[in-house]
Amino acid sequence: MNVLFVSSEIYPLNKTGGLGDVAYSLPHALSEVGQDVRILMPAYRSVIEKVDSLCPVGRFDLIGQHQRHSVRVFQATHSEFNVRLYLVDCQPLYDRPGNPYLQPGGQDWPDNAERFTVFARAAEQIAIHGCDDGWQPDIVHCNDWQCGLIPALLSTHTRRPRSVFTIHNLAYGGHFSAADYHALQLPPALWHMEGAEFHGGFSMLKCGIVFADAVTTVSPTYAREICTPEHGWGMDGVLRAHQHKLYGILNGIDERHWDPAQDPALPLPYTVETVDAGKRAAKQALLQHFQPDIDQADALDRPLVGLVGRLVMQKGIDLIIDVLPNILATSEAHFVFLGTGDHQWEQRLTALAKRHPQRIMLEVGFSENRAHLIEASADLFLMPSRFEPCGLNQLYSLRYGTPPVVHNTGGLADTVVHTTPATLANATANGFVFDTPTPAALATCLASALEAFADKSRWSRLITHGMSLDLGWNGRALQYLERYHH
Ligand code: ADP
Ligand code: GLC
Repeated sequence: MNVLFVSSEIYPLNKTGGLGDVAYSLPHALSEVGQDVRILMPAYRSVIEKVDSLCPVGRFDLIGQHQRHSVRVFQATHSEFNVRLYLVDCQPLYDRPGNPYLQPGGQDWPDNAERFTVFARAAEQIAIHGCDDGWQPDIVHCNDWQCGLIPALLSTHTRRPRSVFTIHNLAYGGHFSAADYHALQLPPALWHMEGAEFHGGFSMLKCGIVFADAVTTVSPTYAREICTPEHGWGMDGVLRAHQHKLYGILNGIDERHWDPAQDPALPLPYTVETVDAGKRAAKQALLQHFQPDIDQADALDRPLVGLVGRLVMQKGIDLIIDVLPNILATSEAHFVFLGTGDHQWEQRLTALAKRHPQRIMLEVGFSENRAHLIEASADLFLMPSRFEPCGLNQLYSLRYGTPPVVHNTGGLADTVVHTTPATLANATANGFVFDTPTPAALATCLASALEAFADKSRWSRLITHGMSLDLGWNGRALQYLERYHH
């Protein structure tokens, strides 16, 4: 099938979270199972800076807010891409520094409605009229709210490719005002309660859900959870109405970039047979980086608990900050945190790290290399998310022999099996799971994980189970293909 895969983030060109990873690895996996996939994304400044070459392949005149935009489409090349990559270029909208959605001060760009409407209109043009070489998509696969208008715009055409909309995170709804909708001259016929309208404004995410031919989300449990008021962000009624076309397909990982046996970020790559030596070398490198002055021999023998992620409420960062002082007092564990996010959590973690410089290593920032090193060097990985559509970090942890400590929700529930005598005996145990997102439940679970760490033979079985799982995309890409055919 010809698939136009559309996303606002694609590793290694840009990434704020797991969407970037999936939007890189899923199209490549689909291509490996014989599909003709082409990727489309906005030509953000950081993206333009990273690609090797650009060749203009199209030009459109598209309606924006109170003005028309001259939009160019470039075909770009990059050594990591084996599928065709197209960039939608409109300098006034996308040629900006830093984060794709936020100004340097952390607020949304005020013209995000226009930025993602023009992007959707460019995708619509390519979907309907094809590419310069005559290629025409059968499927337009849209991801998250930034692409939500594409299925809506396509629905206004009689001859059109089918659309698939994947929800990576329902919490980000792409909400804008009715005034924006009308100023952007979006189709008046779609403005109704069962359509684009949402509580007096409009939601690009809702447009994707309502108008796509199929909707998927990134784990089976999350597909069920989002149909309930507790996890529906006000959209559960809409989702229930469209449940007949909603499927949960678990994310895979890119087994080439996330493989401890060939990871250039590690001092000593390792397999399940050499995991002890590999993790020890990684821990040594990490300590050398963060704490060159402390007693490394002592620190090497203590359990190291790691976290990499966005520092936001979703990830349960507040729960961690709550329990940390007590865990430091009652265990000998060391901690390493890498993340960026809400200012208040960045500040509170920084204050804690200052108070316990021997025990807490902290980097407020984004570093792909350090993320890999933490996955390899930590003994346990913390992911107490309040909700988690899928989560990739627990999958990377399993692959790197770092049992995750997780809340029983979404994709975490679908991938992490709590350690008990029974799950150890049937070789399914691979981490530690707690049922309610409270500081007390997290503390108890982490304490039992640290206790298990002390029993070396039990620990090695646990690590072996996690490292032996099939976490790649092969089977999962086929599930998407089945949806496309359907
Ligand atoms: P989410 O998409 O909700 O942020 P996931 O677990 O699906 O969560 O994916 C997060 C991805 O982003 C992982 O690849 C993780 O390593 C990466 N990541 C998050 N924060 C950072 C950071 N500060 N530095 C490097 N990588 C990060
Ligand atoms: C989102 C979710 C995360 C998921 C990722 C990729 O950012 O928060 O759970 O793994 O998208 O699908």
